[in-house]
Amino acid sequence: MDKKIIIGSDHAGFNLKSKIITFLEEMGFDVCDAGVNSPEPFDYPYIAKDVANKVANKEFSRGILICGTGIGMSITANKIKGIRAVVCSDTTSAKLSRQHNDANILCFGERIVGEYLAKDICKVWLETEFQAERHLKRVNLIEG
Ligand code: RB5
Repeated sequence: MDKKIIIGSDHAGFNLKSKIITFLEEMGFDVCDAGVNSPEPFDYPYIAKDVANKVANKEFSRGILICGTGIGMSITANKIKGIRAVVCSDTTSAKLSRQHNDANILCFGERIVGEYLAKDICKVWLETEFQAERHLKRVNLIEG
């Protein structure tokens, strides 16, 4: 994948987002921070829609969204055509979401996963390619 990525969070994911941005930059990524820029309460759908639209229109090939659980972000992002957002709290799901589902947005929750697990999840998700083969037809069927 290219080394450009977009990341966003609400207030509940703000602290973890800062740490993940540093981690991604250390991995050599050019990171676009879609906000939020403070821990003040902010409605996650605004951030999820912004990031999802930019991935859907191919400004970025992949995105990361962090909220309290990752759930609200993923529900919102998946409303956008072409988005396959997944909530991952373990590295196996992160790997398989790439190999089998060609997930293009990774979501997780600051209230669910710790910093080190979140970094491991990001690393495996970013480094795993889609296997295509038998999964390609299934992924195409998602969009109908
Ligand atoms: C905010 O309190 C919380 O609801 C939000 O971050 C997220 O977890 C929603 O799914």
